[in-house]
Amino acid sequence: MSDSFDVIVIGSGPGGYVCAIRAAQLGLKVACVEKRPTLGGTCLNIGCIPSKALLQSSEEFEKTKHALADHGVLVDGVKLDLARMQARKVDVVSANTKGVEFLFRKNKVTWLKGAGRITGPDSVDVAGRSYSTKNIVIATGSESVPLAGVTIDETRIVTSTGALELEKVPGHLVVIGGGVIGLELGSVWRRLGAEVTVVEFLDRIVPGMDTEIATAFQRILQKQGIKFRLSTKVTGATVGETGVTLTVESVKGGAAETIAADVVLLSIGRRPYTEGLGLEEAGVELDDRKRVKVDPHYATNVPGIYAIGDVIPGPMLAHKGEEEGVAVAEILAGQAGHVNYNAIPGVVYTWPEVASVGQTEEELKAAGTAYTVGKFPFTANGRARAMGDTDGFVKILADKTSDRLLGAHVLGPDAGTLIAELTTAIEFGASAEDVARICHAHPTLSEAVKEAALAVDGRALHI
Ligand code: FAD
Ligand code: NAI
Repeated sequence: MSDSFDVIVIGSGPGGYVCAIRAAQLGLKVACVEKRPTLGGTCLNIGCIPSKALLQSSEEFEKTKHALADHGVLVDGVKLDLARMQARKVDVVSANTKGVEFLFRKNKVTWLKGAGRITGPDSVDVAGRSYSTKNIVIATGSESVPLAGVTIDETRIVTSTGALELEKVPGHLVVIGGGVIGLELGSVWRRLGAEVTVVEFLDRIVPGMDTEIATAFQRILQKQGIKFRLSTKVTGATVGETGVTLTVESVKGGAAETIAADVVLLSIGRRPYTEGLGLEEAGVELDDRKRVKVDPHYATNVPGIYAIGDVIPGPMLAHKGEEEGVAVAEILAGQAGHVNYNAIPGVVYTWPEVASVGQTEEELKAAGTAYTVGKFPFTANGRARAMGDTDGFVKILADKTSDRLLGAHVLGPDAGTLIAELTTAIEFGASAEDVARICHAHPTLSEAVKEAALAVDGRALHI
């Protein structure tokens, strides 16, 4: 194996592996360093993919058990085989990580196995061997944020990694943090039979999401059986023979209380991961939140060293990392790589799903932007009625003067797919009227998007 490359990418998550493939497509000699036994990073191994496998399986279970009777489909004796469900998840993960290995071979990307350490702007050590390179791309991702007094053992007190591996449905799962991980994995275990309580520090769930959507989302989750303790902080956790005792306090004051849990999921956010990378010695600057500081071309302060994905500022999303991976590869190959941060969708894969792109109503208000709102509920959409999935609505925010789309938020069935049209519209600078004038097939959920766009001008047809 040659010891010299044009680019060495450190980390093979969606940021790193996509960057490596794109750089190789552009004719660069590329290596990607990964210390896990499999490629694909957090996303493929312990994040997006295993969580979506369990979300899908648990959804099938719940539907079969509770929803099919409404359709006149009677199924007796529905039982859970959790071991089989978990084995299927492992197979799904394996197919994806092996897929990246195949793509590396196909594109002639060298996988350097082991932990990478930057030893200079043009050298990286991996497993005791030094490799020289013209450029380094840091794509080392993120890790779960810890909480003082709550010690992770990945059995009783788990991060998302342990919550994806449980061998038994917990009687009572307490989730600390009402964000994306807590609500997705809380949904999985609730559907499989756990009682689920979410303890959230703020007075709302999913901070950052449009508030009207978040409030409606919380109501739906409550209807499904998830309990919420908002404005509450956890001050300690004691593991006993049979479970965990959490001590909680209202942030508004009052006496401490205890909550008994079988399993506790700590999901209060993720932080950049740069351990053992040699950044300090290499002189790479971090910001006040320990994220690698980069310029608009992903260059750090050290010439030849770049960074992308969860380790730099921005939403911690796989597709954001992928776009940055493509952009930096193109920049290194002398092209004009670019990411439009106004058009990065975010999706919560609960049922119903929640998806958004662009600005929230609160952000527009804070910026003093004059806007108009169009909304359309799924209760008035024929396909949603036929499916029996009428919870939620589409909300579109447009500039009051130009009608240009500024933000779009969907709470409802298949919201993650529906948001793609609105992301395209924002990317192309479309107006609400442009979307409203597009012919949408009938009967589809996407007609709710058209109707919300019509509603921006007060002319929805079906409500
Ligand atoms: P990562 O995927 O974290 O990959 C970094 C890789 O670098 C790791 O494999 C690590 O082992 C390796 N590494 C680190 N340091 C070194 C070193 N020194 N040497 C060698 N290798 C090193 N995002 C979505 O968009 N959609 C989802 O549905 C979604 N679901 C998620 C569910 C969960 C439970 C979690 C935890 C996250 C989820 N995310 C989701 C977030 C998503 O996983 C991350 O945004 C994404 O993985 C970030 O990609 P990355 O390439 O920056 O880093
Ligand atoms: P998050 O940032 O989404 O939510 C964390 C929640 O914990 C917030 O509501 C916050 O107010 C709360 N919190 C913080 N400190 C707390 C405390 N001490 N006590 C109680 N609550 C507290 O973080 P999460 O859910 O851990 O996810 C991490 C990242 O992973 C997210 O940024 C997300 O982008 C990514 N992710 C994306 C998914 C998707 O795209 N579908 C799925 C899962 C994760």
